[in-house]
Amino acid sequence: MAGTALFVFISAHTLLSLFLLYASLATATATDSLTINQTLTFNQTLISSNQNFELGFFTPANSNDNRWYLGIWFKKIPIRTYVWIANRDHPLHSSSSPALKIDNNGHLTLVNQTHHVIWSSSSSSSSSSSSSTMMNTSNRAHTPVFALLLDNGNLVVKSQTSTDDDVDDGSNGYVWQSFDYPSENLISGMKFGWNLKTGLNRNLRSWKSSDDPSNGDFVYEMDRRGFPELVFRKGSVNLYRTGPWTGIQFSGTPELKNNPVFEPIFVHTDEEVYYSFRSTGSVVSILRLDPTGSLNRITWNDRSLQWVVMLSVMKDQCNKYGLCGVHGVCNIDDTVPCKCLKGFVPTSPQNWSRVDWSDGCRRRTSLNCSNGVGDDGFQKLSFVKVPDTTFAWVNMSMSLNECQMKCLKNCSCTAFANADVRGSGSGCVLWFGDLIDLREFTAGGGQDLYVRMAASELGEGITNQEEDSTRELELPLFDFVTVANATNNFSSDKVIGEGGFGPVYKGILPNGQEIAVKRLSENSGQGLREFKNEVILISKLQHRNLVKVLGCCIQREEMMLVYEYMPNKSLDNFIFDKERSQLLSWEKRFDIIIGIAQGLVYLHRDSRLRIIHRDLKAGNILLDREMNPKISDFGLARTFGGDETEANTRRVVGT
Ligand SMILES: *[C@@H]1O[C@H](CO)[C@@H](O)[C@H](O)[C@H]1NC(C)=O
Ligand SMILES: *[C@@H]1O[C@H](CO)[C@@H](O)[C@H](O)[C@H]1NC(C)=O
Ligand SMILES: *[C@@H]1O[C@H](CO)[C@@H](O)[C@H](O)[C@H]1NC(C)=O
Ligand SMILES: *[C@@H]1O[C@H](CO)[C@@H](O)[C@H](O)[C@H]1NC(C)=O
Ligand SMILES: *[C@@H]1O[C@H](CO)[C@@H](O)[C@H](O)[C@H]1NC(C)=O
Ligand SMILES: *[C@@H]1O[C@H](CO)[C@@H](O)[C@H](O)[C@H]1NC(C)=O
Ligand SMILES: *[C@@H]1O[C@H](CO)[C@@H](O)[C@H](O)[C@H]1NC(C)=O
Ligand SMILES: *[C@@H]1O[C@H](CO)[C@@H](O)[C@H](O)[C@H]1NC(C)=O
Ligand SMILES: *[C@@H]1O[C@H](CO)[C@@H](O)[C@H](O)[C@H]1NC(C)=O
Ligand SMILES: *[C@@H]1O[C@H](CO)[C@@H](O)[C@H](O)[C@H]1NC(C)=O
Ligand SMILES: *[C@@H]1O[C@H](CO)[C@@H](O)[C@H](O)[C@H]1NC(C)=O
Repeated sequence: MAGTALFVFISAHTLLSLFLLYASLATATATDSLTINQTLTFNQTLISSNQNFELGFFTPANSNDNRWYLGIWFKKIPIRTYVWIANRDHPLHSSSSPALKIDNNGHLTLVNQTHHVIWSSSSSSSSSSSSSTMMNTSNRAHTPVFALLLDNGNLVVKSQTSTDDDVDDGSNGYVWQSFDYPSENLISGMKFGWNLKTGLNRNLRSWKSSDDPSNGDFVYEMDRRGFPELVFRKGSVNLYRTGPWTGIQFSGTPELKNNPVFEPIFVHTDEEVYYSFRSTGSVVSILRLDPTGSLNRITWNDRSLQWVVMLSVMKDQCNKYGLCGVHGVCNIDDTVPCKCLKGFVPTSPQNWSRVDWSDGCRRRTSLNCSNGVGDDGFQKLSFVKVPDTTFAWVNMSMSLNECQMKCLKNCSCTAFANADVRGSGSGCVLWFGDLIDLREFTAGGGQDLYVRMAASELGEGITNQEEDSTRELELPLFDFVTVANATNNFSSDKVIGEGGFGPVYKGILPNGQEIAVKRLSENSGQGLREFKNEVILISKLQHRNLVKVLGCCIQREEMMLVYEYMPNKSLDNFIFDKERSQLLSWEKRFDIIIGIAQGLVYLHRDSRLRIIHRDLKAGNILLDREMNPKISDFGLARTFGGDETEANTRRVVGT
């Protein structure tokens, strides 16, 4: 770790060095503030009074060139994690004697050796407190100010005469504060969003790379158009959105509700709209945007001394913006994540069957509406993340009934919902045109959404039960040519294993997705029975610890099952191999055990069918890219009654 000299100095741990440290830096380091005639130089830091945060100069780990930055980091966390960086796009090129001081105008200013201003709070403060009538530039020269590193990690410039709460304009009465300029980490207490009076937009932007803090490609910010929501983008391309705040949580983030680590906060007034969070325990948790585009909620583990990922947003396939196209709905618990809204059909069935859903869906029956007259109605969907609200219309005081009337009267209105779901619901959101980026949660989460439909799609006796039973039997069909082509015509060098009823091939679909294909061998008598068993069972099972089937192919006397590809093969490859077993730490093994157990609990207790696998062994535990275990091979499994807790079998099976 090429930290600052000070960091290395302290870690030397000798009484002598501590003595020297205090002897030489006593006045400079023991403080949390900087007053008008003081400077903070290269070898000095400010430390918050609770010792949690430190402000100083640093050079990023791994960078062996001479780039220096001024920043704030968690003092007690040995993996440097920055809360603010003054000059991320303007590194100092020498560590010799940069200085931070308060200039004659009361601005916090960073100068280099030759006294050139590298960064100043004045260049970033205009938007933060220009509206504050507390003081203007000419006043500042005469009003003494000082900088203070607060216990929450906020570096503030404040007037020596003001108190913290004398101006309530979103600036807390500070002349300037670092919390208005987050970099790649959002910490407890920071506001993430807009000061609507000044136009200040507080957002997160990734580093360019792990050793270059300059502005990278990824931005996470609050889009305040339409109905505000947080949007994660690369350049101008949307990667993910949270959905709007429902009063309790974001429409698309049920996992935030009632978590033990932090309490999410959302504020929307005439003056500001922001998201924030407050730690509810002693665990440090932050929202982090890393240079490769991962957006993670991470927590600090005091014992293992590392950041632990609590939630990795982009690992959830259904979080991928618009995965299922317009009028498509994503459900991560379904074997195939995308389906069309009820009453809609795939725009391009061909593409849809090749698991490319980007074309989305179109109406089966067009709407009947002209000049607000027609007999359209609405289909109610529950537990959904509502569509993109960038161009939605909102009124926080309308009732759901008024909302429906308003939507019906406008032929381009395609959906409506309550803006706030608390109590019996209130407010109105209207959508116009195509609906994109919907997802559905299996248990809780999301909210109700009403989608405009032709009357004939609503009434016509398609009972829910029928709908469900067709869905149960439905396993997407792959055509033979696609599967053959994906596996180089079942070339022998694509064989990756031998399943219970035939060879397993690795393949790659035209959209780049890697697949594993189980092909029933022509003369496998026993195999046919197992194949059918597997098709029937696995099409009804969905769990993150069960291997996911993408579809099947029954054509030209061929029977094949198409699965997601598991790059790390099966567990026996690791634990029974001297060298590879070294790759599995005890922590990882424990995770794998827990995963398998969760898969079994699902099979035995929680799934729609109750299932005994009957051939559970290391060879049937597959491992995905992140080494998460997936139970596979249901050829021998059997179901038992929902109220039975044990079952007898006459046939001894498996190994
Ligand atoms: C700062 O220094 C100037 C000139 O040395 C002095 O007049 C002034 O009183 C000092 N201000 C403070 C707050 O110490
Ligand atoms: C800190 O820097 C100042 C100015 O560069 C220098 O005079 C002083 O000796 C340094 N102190 C330590 C402990 O390195
Ligand atoms: C200080 O910054 C100025 C302007 O960026 C630059 O021209 C000068 O070389 C810098 N001085 C040092 C010692 O780096
Ligand atoms: C700034 O302060 C000066 C002196 O008190 C005053 O004359 C001027 O009107 C102020 N400007 C603004 C924009 O408030
Ligand atoms: C199907 O996908 C291909 C390739 O992605 C695309 O070029 C084509 O336009 C799509 N078909 C339709 C009908 O959208
Ligand atoms: C469209 O709505 C009008 C008014 O309700 C109705 O008379 C007409 O039959 C509808 N047309 C179709 C094709 O459903
Ligand atoms: C919002 O709805 C309320 C109640 O219907 C209405 O009084 C108000 O004018 C609406 N506001 C806007 C901006 O449409
Ligand atoms: C319907 O809503 C759209 C979008 O708000 C608006 O532009 C249009 O004027 C409305 N049409 C009618 C007939 O109110
Ligand atoms: C077959 O695969 C090749 C390359 O892998 C691809 O270019 C071609 O479109 C595929 N053909 C079909 C019919 O899927
Ligand atoms: C697969 O075989 C078919 C017919 O034998 C041939 O047209 C095609 O090019 C082959 N594809 C690959 C990827 O080998
Ligand atoms: C698991 O697979 C991924 C992707 O192929 C690979 O990067 C990783 O090293 C593998 N893990 C182990 C422990 O082999």
